[in-house]
Amino acid sequence: MSLPRRSFLRHAALGAAGLGLAREAVAALPEFAADRPEPFWEAVRALYPLEPGFTYFNTGGLGSTPTPVLERVAEVTRRLQAKAEHGHAQFTAARADVARFLGADPAEVAFVRNATEANAIVAGGLRFAPGDEVIFETHAHPGGSFPWLQAARVRGVVVRTFEPDPLSAAGNLQRLAALVGPRTRVVQVSHITAPTGIMLPARAVADLCRARGIWFHLDAAQSAGMVPVDFTALGCDSLAVSGHKWIGGPLETGVLCVRRARQEELEPPLVGAHSGDLDPATGRFALSAGALRYEYGTRNVAAALGLAEAMRLQERIGRDRIAARGRQLAARAHAGLAALPGVEILSPAGGELAAAMVTFRTARIPHDRLFGLLLREKAIRTRPVTEEQFNALRVSTHLCNSPAQIDALVAAVGEFLRREA
Ligand SMILES: Cc1ncc(COP(=O)(O)O)c(C=O)c1O
Repeated sequence: MSLPRRSFLRHAALGAAGLGLAREAVAALPEFAADRPEPFWEAVRALYPLEPGFTYFNTGGLGSTPTPVLERVAEVTRRLQAKAEHGHAQFTAARADVARFLGADPAEVAFVRNATEANAIVAGGLRFAPGDEVIFETHAHPGGSFPWLQAARVRGVVVRTFEPDPLSAAGNLQRLAALVGPRTRVVQVSHITAPTGIMLPARAVADLCRARGIWFHLDAAQSAGMVPVDFTALGCDSLAVSGHKWIGGPLETGVLCVRRARQEELEPPLVGAHSGDLDPATGRFALSAGALRYEYGTRNVAAALGLAEAMRLQERIGRDRIAARGRQLAARAHAGLAALPGVEILSPAGGELAAAMVTFRTARIPHDRLFGLLLREKAIRTRPVTEEQFNALRVSTHLCNSPAQIDALVAAVGEFLRREA
């Protein structure tokens, strides 16, 4: 039986039977063979609920959630709803899994709704005097920049931005360092930038900040799940993670990690049940120990357990293997698209700056038209990049993609260029 056919049958079986088969499919993943890796990746791809024939290249926007994760969420939801319990105690187990995956202590992990909320807690919770400065890159996603623009609006924080260098890690460090001054209180960078997928030198930025007592917040929305992210090894003070992109967690999952030694400096902007305790005898209110202080109110524990399941699945597949696969697929897209006449690539060509994303454009077809042609005629979903007026398309390459899909994308763009230009 041909691989696509086998994949289709497995996909149909997973969709129909759900959890049992999805779990079995994970347990039955074949051994990875470096000299013949495609059967392994084909089995991994079959774990995704994406329609056969539909090519999804927008993991950087929203990840497709693998079927075993969806089923875990459904199972926990059903079990809890059978007695209408919120199951909050189960956050403890999920927190341990998330901490292991992110290289953090469980007391450094807070469950939030998305990376934006994690960024906003940092921008809203640090204490500032008017004129204190924050530095971030011009390519920051609105989920990274808007919390600071709001802090500038209402608290007098001064924003300084640097243009990322797509060619050199040292260049990025220099551009950032050139903005550091006596009023710099916070540096935030995207670990991997959203518009064009530039990997910024997080560890070197952490060293620079540590030496000056500057708070370093790393926005790992695009990196966690694409490459291994280790909070402790990276040396940042806080970390924002999106659960619903590269990790493949359920929608509305995110994590904020805050280094224990600096938690007293970051106030929770919103508090409620779980954030703290009220001593009935003294009437004294105190924040909870650890990062639990950044959580409040009734939460969806099924989503948190689903996120932990998604992380375990990545561990089962192999995190270094996932990172290498994404970059290999991106390199294939980069080479194929770059070879087409009139196509310009905006993403790093390879090496330490490259990620599993390729942003490209052609002056011959407006990007929004090309987006529509790919989607309507070829069922290929890319992502328009209007940030910085790039007017380009972004291709995210992850576990739900294959070399054949990359080749089909390149062929389709070539076809449209011949037809439309
Ligand atoms: C760098 C970066 N930060 C933050 C976000 C916002 O992520 P979320 O949807 O989890 O809030 C994104 C989304 O694309 C992003 O790319």
